[in-house]
Amino acid sequence: MVKRVIKAAPDYLALNFFDFIRHFTNLFTSKEYNLWIESDKYTTIFGYSCRGLFEVCMQYFYKEDLVVATTPIQHTSFRNILEKYVKPENIHIIRLNKNYNGIEEIPKLDNCDLAVITHYFGQDMDISVLSEFKKKHNCIIIEDRVQGGTLDLLSSHEIVDIPIYSMGMDKRPIALGGGFMYINNQHKELIEGTKKIIEALPIEKTGKRFKEMVKKLPTFLFYNSRIFLASFIELLRVATFFNRDISLLKFAKAYRAKNPGFDRETFLSKPSQGLLKSMYQNLDNYKKMESLFAKKYAYFIECLDPEIIPYFFPWYKGNSSLSSYNTIQIEEHLVDQFLEFLTEYDITCIANPTYKVFNHSYENKEVDVKFNNGIVYIPSTPNMKRKEIELLADKLHDFYHTFCKEKGK
Ligand SMILES: Cc1ncc(COP(=O)(O)O)c(C=O)c1O
Repeated sequence: MVKRVIKAAPDYLALNFFDFIRHFTNLFTSKEYNLWIESDKYTTIFGYSCRGLFEVCMQYFYKEDLVVATTPIQHTSFRNILEKYVKPENIHIIRLNKNYNGIEEIPKLDNCDLAVITHYFGQDMDISVLSEFKKKHNCIIIEDRVQGGTLDLLSSHEIVDIPIYSMGMDKRPIALGGGFMYINNQHKELIEGTKKIIEALPIEKTGKRFKEMVKKLPTFLFYNSRIFLASFIELLRVATFFNRDISLLKFAKAYRAKNPGFDRETFLSKPSQGLLKSMYQNLDNYKKMESLFAKKYAYFIECLDPEIIPYFFPWYKGNSSLSSYNTIQIEEHLVDQFLEFLTEYDITCIANPTYKVFNHSYENKEVDVKFNNGIVYIPSTPNMKRKEIELLADKLHDFYHTFCKEKGK
């Protein structure tokens, strides 16, 4: 009997081959694009990446004793940037509830300059509880909304001063690079200051963007081409037969580590005209993605027994995830077993490649570490057929009933 294969990776690029080519032809543009677009109420500022824009903000606000309140788990780049600009004793953790979908406790501080909030798992966290805190400290609120809720909203809540977004390869919207932030026009100095910092950065070389996009071609095929991925899985199966050291799990881990969504070294750059053109073309192209992500995710949830939803998706509040990543939570001690289990069925999965906790110690840090270590990405649903979604749901049930239930949570 032929084994049923899920022809989807734990990542997905919402672009077709024609869009892909257009990002190359954009490199030849002779038009000049501004680094910002001014609307009635707010200004959209473009950058080379989301992390680059965050570092620009940190440079703007930097002072010797900067005090920051922040959510405990951040994208690796955000965590590193915060640790670069803020002394560990001045990084105060906002405690989240046990499902990591709401704020439980805001640190009591004498003063606070910035609050940095990251939204997780394709939905917004309710941050209205920070309203009093903001009023008291007159602090600026920055949010990483890359994996947050719908882009129909400029930010998750009106108290946010700077929501930041990525337009990288598996993001929403997608421009194969770049990022943007919205700033209310009332913050005139902040707008001018951040624009000035970005303008002074070294400009991304067109040749470099060209090379990076060429390198994304196999990534595009792995993540989006069902035939390519299925053929590769078959080849890998033969290779594994001869050499047990080769496995889909090891390959997925190594591939993602070597082909990150973004250049980790030179992100403090100014976007090239080619990248700006791609961003201008795609800034509003998120609706189709959001509805595809929502539809596929809703079907996935529908296939799951209500008993297992809170186990694997403790943060689920009835809204479909709008992220291209299909994230689940596993008890820390079962993660390796889970990854091996899915690999046995040739299902690609990867242990948390995105988030990190801070290096300094703080109260209850072990809870965040445990949660963070339990994050796993399983195949991304947008590219999957209904039968594959059903198969993936079946495997979650199998794992739960075999390994999780008896051991208790
Ligand atoms: C939640 C989150 N924040 C920030 C980023 C960084 O975005 P960029 O690659 O544009 O710097 C990512 C990228 O994966 C992300 O998932």
